[in-house]
This record gives sequence, C-alpha cells and structure tokens, in this order.
Amino acid sequence: MAKVVVENVYKSYSRSKVHSDETVELKNQKSSGKTTAVSVLRDINFTVEDGEFLVLVGPSGCGKSTLLRLLAGLEELTGGNIRVGDRLVNYLPPKARDMAMVFQNYALYPHLNIYDNIAFGLRRNYSQHESPLQNFLVAITRHLPRSMRYLSAKEKSIRDRVRYVASLLQIESLLYRLPKELSGGQKQRVALGRAIARNPQVFLMDEPLSNLDAKLRTQTRAQIVKLQKQLKTTTVYVTHDQTEAMTMGDRIAVMNDGQIQQIAPPLEIYEHPANSFVAGFIGSPPMNFLPVELTAPLTLQYQQFRLTLPEFWATHLEASGEKSFYLGVRPQHFYLDVPTEANLAVTVDLVEALGSETYISAHLTEDDSINLVVSLPPDKPITVGDSVWLAIELNKIHLFTVNDGRSLKCKSN
Ligand SMILES: Nc1ncnc2c1ncn2[C@@H]1O[C@H](COP(=O)(O)OP(=O)(O)O)[C@@H](O)[C@H]1O
Ligand SMILES: [Mg+2]
Repeated sequence: MAKVVVENVYKSYSRSKVHSDETVELKNQKSSGKTTAVSVLRDINFTVEDGEFLVLVGPSGCGKSTLLRLLAGLEELTGGNIRVGDRLVNYLPPKARDMAMVFQNYALYPHLNIYDNIAFGLRRNYSQHESPLQNFLVAITRHLPRSMRYLSAKEKSIRDRVRYVASLLQIESLLYRLPKELSGGQKQRVALGRAIARNPQVFLMDEPLSNLDAKLRTQTRAQIVKLQKQLKTTTVYVTHDQTEAMTMGDRIAVMNDGQIQQIAPPLEIYEHPANSFVAGFIGSPPMNFLPVELTAPLTLQYQQFRLTLPEFWATHLEASGEKSFYLGVRPQHFYLDVPTEANLAVTVDLVEALGSETYISAHLTEDDSINLVVSLPPDKPITVGDSVWLAIELNKIHLFTVNDGRSLKCKSN
C-alpha cells in the first residue's frame, strides 16, 4: 500500500497539421513547425493518501483516461512528477510500478480460461526461476485432468491466491470457463479479480462499470467499494458518472478541459462547489443558474424578480468586487409559493412523476429563454401548461461570478 503523489503534471500530444485541422481543441494548440502540440492535461496536482479511494470525474474528453494512463506508465509525461510511496516512477515501465489497471472493456485473454486469466499476472516470468525438471513435469502433465497435473510450489501458491480472489468475488464456479461464456458483469468481476490477485500497491480503474446495465452497475459499485475498504488498497477510479463519484469516493477530483476544478469529499463538493462548472456537473438533475445583477447592497435582480439576501452575503459580495452573478439553485431547493417579487413566475413544460418525487421542467413566464428544473414532492397536482410561483430556499443558494464562474462562498476560493 502506498500513497500516490501527482506533482505539476502536464501532457500534450503532438499532431500533424493535417489532423489538427479536424480537431476541436484549437484554443489549446501551439504551432511548431509541421506539428501542433495539443495540451490535454495542465497543472495537475493532487495526493491520493495511502488506502484512499479517489474518484476522478468529468465529462468525456476532459483527460481522465490520459491521467490514469500516465499513472500506469502507459503514456509518457510531458512535465511533472508521479510518486508512488517514496519512489519516483516517472521513468519506470508499467510492470515495475506495482499498479493494477481495470479497464471498461475488461481486456481478458479470450483463449485463456478464467483461472488462467487471473493467474496470468502472477505467473509472469516465474517459469525462468523454476528448475528444468519442474518445467518439464508441468509441461507433460498439462493436458491431464486437473487433479493429476503437476503443481510446483509456486503454482500451488498461485492456486491458493486465485481461489482466495475467486471467493472474494464469488466467481468460484466460473474458473474453468472461457471469457466468452461469461456475462458482462461476470467478466468485469474477473477483471477485478485479476487486479486484486496481484496485490498491487495501487488500483487504477477506468470506467469499469460503463458496460453494465443499471442494476448490475449499482450492485458492482457497492461491491467495489466494499472490497476496497477490505483490502485498503489505494485506488484511483475514473468515471464520467457523477452518481458513481458521489457514492464511491472518499474524495472526488472534478476535472474539466484538462484541469482539476476541485478536490474534496463528496458532500463538500455538493454543498460548496468551487465554481459553476462543478456546481452544474455534480448533482442530479443539475443546478439551475439564473443571471442576476446586484442592484442594492444585498439585492439581486432579474427583470421583475428581486431577492434580498441574508446579511452574511454582504462580505462575500463586496470581496468579489463584481455586480453580475449567476444565482445557483438546486432543483430540490425550490418550493411552490404565492406571487411576490421574491418568487419566480414559471410555466410548466414537462412533468416527470418518479413516485418518490416529481421533476418539473418550466420556463420563466416572462422570459422563455430561462429554463428551470424543479423537484417537488409527489403529491403536488401539477400539469403541463400550469403557471405557478416558485420560492427559493434562501439558505441553500449559491452565487457565481459571471466573469470566471468562481463561487462566492466556497471555502477554498
Ligand atoms: N494518443 C492521443 N493522441 C492525441 N490526442 C489524444 C490521444 N489520447 C487522447 N487524446 C485527446 O486527449 C483528450 C482527453 O482524452 P481522454 O483522456 O481519453 O478523455 P476522457 O477519458 O476524460 O474521456 C481528448 O481530447 C482526446 O482526443
Ligand atoms: Mg476515458
């Protein structure tokens, strides 16, 4: 077990100009001769503590897999350092880094049965250390029934390890099947088993649940968390799914556009998002944003709507030195109320009754360019086309500067 330290990491890829014409990341490109450098990761700094479960979350294309592949040694750093425990691993090949990676597509060897898939990493190189006699005995008994094969001491310890891992993951009955005879969920358990069997210092997992159906995903999610707590192996887990991030991580690192936006425990990220990107990415349905102007010391205004903030906002507003903000309100923090200038008049466009709660999509009655999603208790009789007034829970609001999206009251800003 070990902690992982990522210091000042940068990654860019060079692309030929012909290719770069087709890419969308033009703003990040630096031209140099015939190739352009495309910056994919910038200024990445974080530490994963020994035994911690860190989730890297962000939209597709933000650089999560690249970062994980840098940790694993599958890509070369453009700048910065990676340490595992006390070792600088920048120049170590993947095998020497003592990390085990689990991929979305399982990456099992199709011609090996499950037992051999799990044993594969444990057998690597060891046949060189066995005596010629032992290798000979293994070879000539290989095709006999299992109980009659010759097992060296090393092979016996591998067998014990495979059986232990199989029982941990409840896949004992699958050991002598081929990968193609397994369901997606079973294959992913085998891939996890292969990583666990090696007892590495670090697990690296890249969207391991994305190919599973919703129910299995929830089950396997819980199983991975439980296993990780049991094994206490430092883990970096990549996902684009904010629910996975919230439910699995000891801490979450939210990424966007090649940079880390915020690292904190799940509830801190939810309650104190550092900026409007994090606020909009974490939470489902996403936070609503309303553009407002500061028109008096504590008054925010959008057209007819005027909200007077509690006194404690005064220092935050002043410190920001700004007048234009986005008022952030989570769907759960609206409630139906009477007409007043502190409430929003909306017209309902869509009603989704989930049983436990009802989601409503609505637009401001005066301004159909502003859409809101609101979560209401299931007993409210609301139908499409209704006009209603929404009040905002004042102690739950967020404010972000229009300029750079920074949150006014996040602890770390
Ligand atoms: N080998 C590569 N060469 C050039 N660009 C790459 C390469 N691998 C990834 N990228 C680019 O890096 C960005 C981040 O990719 P990736 O790390 O796979 O994102 P994520 O895993 O968050 O979806 C993408 O814009 C992708 O096109
Ligand atoms: Mg990826």
